[in-house]
Amino acid sequence: MVYLTRRETFNAAHRLYVQAWTEEENFAMFGKCANKNWHGHNYQLFVTVKGEPDVHTGFIIDAKKLSEVIKKEIVDRFDHQNLNEDTPYFKTIQPSTENFCKVIWNILEPLITDGVLHCIKLQETENIYAEYFGEQERKHP
Ligand code: NI
Repeated sequence: MVYLTRRETFNAAHRLYVQAWTEEENFAMFGKCANKNWHGHNYQLFVTVKGEPDVHTGFIIDAKKLSEVIKKEIVDRFDHQNLNEDTPYFKTIQPSTENFCKVIWNILEPLITDGVLHCIKLQETENIYAEYFGEQERKHP
């Protein structure tokens, strides 16, 4: 089994807060991420596909085609957007790096037809990233 990763970048704004909490409670939990007037991140997205290299091409998936799918489905959808306000994905869940990984997984997973989607890694800042491997990982003892 070989793993191929394609990286793409985009930026987006968000705010982490719980409507029912006071401003103080939100700041205690989320710090500056609760800032009323939003803030942005330069996201780095790493999409990893696993499989066996094709006998003729040597590819699991054509990295150029993978890039096109990521750009069309993720970058075009989220780049320069306010995740809370401009997209339908975070109306009932926080636009955290963790939840964003799962949203991206659910969009891309059915569209990966060469190889199998293995991991969505989303880097939010230099020091923070999240990874999602799909639900099957839960079966591990
Ligand atoms: Ni943030």
